Amino acid sequence: MKKWTATLLIGVMLTVVGCSSGSSGAEGGDSGGAGTEPNIGVAIYKFDDTFMTGVRNAITEAANGKAKVDIVDSQNSQPTQNDKIDLFITKKVDALVINPVDRTAAGVMIDKAKAADIPVVFLNREPLPEDMKKWDKVYYVGAKAEESGTISGQLIVDYWKANPDADKNKDGVLQYVMLKGEPGHQDAELRTKYSVQALEDAGIKVEKVAEDTGMWDRVKGQEKMAAFLAAHGDKIEAVLANNDDMALGAVEALKAAGYFTGGKKMPVVGVDATAPALQALKDGTMLGTVLNDAKNQGKAALNLAAVLAKGEVPNKDSSGYDLTDGKFVWIPYKKITKDNIDDAQ
Ligand code: GAL
Ligand code: CA
Repeated sequence: MKKWTATLLIGVMLTVVGCSSGSSGAEGGDSGGAGTEPNIGVAIYKFDDTFMTGVRNAITEAANGKAKVDIVDSQNSQPTQNDKIDLFITKKVDALVINPVDRTAAGVMIDKAKAADIPVVFLNREPLPEDMKKWDKVYYVGAKAEESGTISGQLIVDYWKANPDADKNKDGVLQYVMLKGEPGHQDAELRTKYSVQALEDAGIKVEKVAEDTGMWDRVKGQEKMAAFLAAHGDKIEAVLANNDDMALGAVEALKAAGYFTGGKKMPVVGVDATAPALQALKDGTMLGTVLNDAKNQGKAALNLAAVLAKGEVPNKDSSGYDLTDGKFVWIPYKKITKDNIDDAQ
């Protein structure tokens, strides 16, 4: 009995040792001694997101020769993300880059990182102002959601002014449908608000025919658009989507309803300028989009984290990006139509 217990104990100890050395090797843990690159833990809200996949690739590329990155999938679950952050803290990474699942949960993650003195760069989902103020080693890289909303609205304004037949029922009012991103996400709330605002600011009378969330997702965008068409049909004169995946889903539903052939038109706009959206611009199924600069958002986040990992305070020289209020990096958006597709590639 005693012997059996001892054997078991040794077995357990071996397993523990085996696990810890195995995982630090597999996850790129620091083992190379002095002068090695810093370790940066990156938690993405979910890997299955077109735009964030672009950001993820940009982070990997920017890390080349600068830092070792361990990028993990939070699978759209805040508890899962919290576990991943705990693990990064246990492994003593030198800095964290977090794309929160729930941006209102940032405060809890900041508290943990602060206790371990590990600086944090948030990305794409903006923590609440009070959370950003919790610690001086908290940063945010993103884009001004209002700006993308305004630009997408302007795309419709240009179309409406250039095409008198866009007012299909000739009532002098633009009847539109809105495909919203995830409720509560700053990009969903502000793009929705500011795109409509841009129409109104241009003197266009608008009527919202329908609005629903497609959760940034192409399939959901298609389903919601199909439902809008079933309920309202030709009453719809424009489709505003908070991102390209939902816009592309809407295009699928419109195609199934006979649009884009035989002169049946519909202006559809999105945001992101993903590769399939640029293709849709060329095909003439999407009217326009807004470049959400994945490359610079990923690079800025990685650069900030790499500077912070060295115990330094990032500035324009060390990070390559302007900092607003010492802790925000804002990457500009850009209007994209079939005439300037190259600007997005
Ligand atoms: C937005 C982007 C969406 C989606 C979302 C995820 O900025 O436009 O497509 O990726 O971020 O948080
Ligand atoms: Ca009308």
